[in-house]
Amino acid sequence: MCGIVGFTGKQQAAPILLEGLEKLEYRGYDSAGLAISDGERVNVVKCMGRLAALREKSNNGKSVAGCVGIGHTRWATHGRPSDENSHPHVSENGRIAIVHNGIIENYAQIKEMLINRGRVFKSETDTEVAAQLIDYYYEGSILEAVAKASRELEGSYALGIICADEPETIVGLKSHAPLIVAYGEEGNFFASDVMAVVKYTKTVSYLEDDEIAVVTDKDIKFYTSFLDEIKKEKVTVDWDISSTDKGGYEHYMFKEIMEQPEAVKRTIAPYIIDGRAELSSVLDKAYINSLSRIYIVACGSSYHVGVIAKYNIEKLARVPVEVVLASEFRYCDPIVDKSTLVICISQSGETADTLEAQNEAKRLGALTLAIVNVEGSSIAKSADKVIYTKAGPEIAVATTKAYSTQLAVTILIALYVAECRGTIAAEEYAEIMRQLDVLPVTLEKILADKANIQRLAYQHFNNEDLFFIGRNIDYALSLEGSLKLKEISYIHSEAYPAGELKHGTISLVVDNMLVIAVASYGKLVDKTLSNALEVKARGAHVMGITTDSLRSHVEKATDEIITIPDAHDVLLPSLAVLPLQLFAYYVALYRGCDIDKPRNLAKSVTVE
Ligand code: M6R
Repeated sequence: MCGIVGFTGKQQAAPILLEGLEKLEYRGYDSAGLAISDGERVNVVKCMGRLAALREKSNNGKSVAGCVGIGHTRWATHGRPSDENSHPHVSENGRIAIVHNGIIENYAQIKEMLINRGRVFKSETDTEVAAQLIDYYYEGSILEAVAKASRELEGSYALGIICADEPETIVGLKSHAPLIVAYGEEGNFFASDVMAVVKYTKTVSYLEDDEIAVVTDKDIKFYTSFLDEIKKEKVTVDWDISSTDKGGYEHYMFKEIMEQPEAVKRTIAPYIIDGRAELSSVLDKAYINSLSRIYIVACGSSYHVGVIAKYNIEKLARVPVEVVLASEFRYCDPIVDKSTLVICISQSGETADTLEAQNEAKRLGALTLAIVNVEGSSIAKSADKVIYTKAGPEIAVATTKAYSTQLAVTILIALYVAECRGTIAAEEYAEIMRQLDVLPVTLEKILADKANIQRLAYQHFNNEDLFFIGRNIDYALSLEGSLKLKEISYIHSEAYPAGELKHGTISLVVDNMLVIAVASYGKLVDKTLSNALEVKARGAHVMGITTDSLRSHVEKATDEIITIPDAHDVLLPSLAVLPLQLFAYYVALYRGCDIDKPRNLAKSVTVE
């Protein structure tokens, strides 16, 4: 969602902020802006649209001179995307300018209070309310004014603030939305995430809720909202600048698809010791044996990982697993106690619903385990236990390598829990471990065959409606195949349990409709093929995805075929997801879509 960058130093701020905002584009946005202090005034330039429009409007930042400033990319929540509603917002007298990520829930009451005291508002946003409130409390100290305002603001927000009367300083404030500060050699920063500043520094501190950072060229000081000074740890992040560029590929998404073998290898390596899935440093064996149930809670693709994990954990470890969308979990009165393990899955570690669901699970007494990609993120910090996926920065909005690494972690969990509880035979365990060990190589082989998928995508990119069908893990994987296609190609598609089609949905099948039948799970392949034949009989064109050894069998019921190498059931979705990602990618490419930044979507969803 919205991206924030602030800089104070010896160089011109605007070009640095524009560059930083470009690194945050992946978060999703519809307008952008800058506020720069020239020592006397704060000058604002902002507009609707992409950063290229802001570059043009500000003459690449030259029209706003000064070494201190804040920048913003906005993803509209309160008020439609427009020049006026873009950030930064300024107080009526122009003294305070702020940028904001999140939602101020009590903005209407505060606005009414300020209007009653004679303040006039220009925009419909909650952000302008915060700017005016800070100005209302300003009596010569921006720190004190921000502290007073922070005690009144409710909701989830990160704010970046600049004050014309204190031209050397930028101030950051955080509550349930991410904000880091970063220590550069020639100036200091704050930002929504490390990506914006990694070109200049890898040394950062993470702000906690209700903490204020006062950032100047010389130092960074931290305070509570009651103005007690606090010390914060400096952390060195291990992301380098090359991981934030496209590495010669046309799109981040494609680069990230190709990075999956390495990402999976990096993620699982620390947890495979002497040929065993070794998670005792994360989950104690005695605890695993006392478990009565597991919940997996997540959103979007991370939720889809959970759906596959349910099948795998229940199959291998015989523990009941419930998979719940994080936005539902919080309000469904879940049956959770201390014998429940709640696993929260998130790439960004900042998804508001997942974070709140995790907090709810903790409150109910469960042990929480987070599977997270971004180190130091809110979900990672507030979980009882964490397993980091080592996918590296994922910039395309459509997740690929994070999904694959999350899935690999859940296989390790299934194996570990199964071994602790004695529910898996030694031979089967050894076979899965052997295949897991060579998984990165197997993924490479599948990626090498991308030309076939590109050809099929070319044949089908004009479809406007399609179905993905499958059973069991194949159905669970279809959910992800369908989402990938929808989000980047804007084709309407639905994932359906194959056996459920006849209960209503088959009425939508018409001549030449493409149906993708995922039929890799040997035990149920015949059942899925019967359903494929049913849709074929009604005119559908069926593309099958199956394993090498099932090829000739599946070919009989389908019009065309994609194969993956044979594998143990629990590993099949890890393989079959690659053709589905590639198919979505190439279809979107042929349709001329904005693949890395699909319309209306944000990479990290930090509001409910
Ligand atoms: O960062 P998270 O994994 O918590 O994000 C959850 C979803 O927003 C995310 O998986 C989304 O569905 C993906 N962009 C889909 O590709």
